[in-house]
Amino acid sequence: MNIRACLFDLDGVVVDTAKYHYIAWEKIADELGFHFTEKDNERLKGVSRMESLEILLEVGKIKIDYYKKEELALKKNNLYLSYIQRMTPDEILPGVIPFMDELKSNGIMIALGSASKNALFILEKIKLTLKFDAVIDGNKVKNAKPDPEVFLKGAIELGVTPQNCLVFEDAQAGIDAARNAGMYIIGIGQTENLKNADHVIPGFQKFNFNQLVSWYM
Ligand code: BG6
Ligand code: MG
Repeated sequence: MNIRACLFDLDGVVVDTAKYHYIAWEKIADELGFHFTEKDNERLKGVSRMESLEILLEVGKIKIDYYKKEELALKKNNLYLSYIQRMTPDEILPGVIPFMDELKSNGIMIALGSASKNALFILEKIKLTLKFDAVIDGNKVKNAKPDPEVFLKGAIELGVTPQNCLVFEDAQAGIDAARNAGMYIIGIGQTENLKNADHVIPGFQKFNFNQLVSWYM
């Protein structure tokens, strides 16, 4: 098999933090005087914090200056931090740990490739930091997904070429980033929402190393 490393997105792949991002953004929207729906929130998946704010302001048809934007982004993050403070290993999505263990025992390296600046904090909360051979998060990259930077840096830290990497992603921006990096891609979610992945699976519960080998022999 060609695959020597697997790169995992965090939000929506390893844990379901979209709900915490949503309730924090919803509060900010309420404060600005409009309702931000769960459907609107879908557009924020995989997108950086500042770009998320821009989308929120577009939905609310609100124009504010740079300083107000910085203030709102900080406020949103403080709300978000107060929610993720209480996260535990129970929130790791089903099947993730057994699959990672299978990868490790078959000599496949594991990296995190996340847009989130809170990724390390979350990994500590869910006690998963030590599983990763490399962690690339929103603090280490200049260009947000769909730019391939986050995944290319992961490959460099692991010492493998992009052609030997497989990415697991739940957001279109992330799939596009992996494609731009020249990596293999498995989407997590529904096929109709995830274009250009090699395969799409609903989650890791019914997925295993044998299936992976059969796809990438
Ligand atoms: C991504 C999420 O993983 O991280 C986005 O899918 C989020 O919704 C982005 O906006 C940035 O997260 P943070 O934690 O740096 O605000
Ligand atoms: Mg994600």
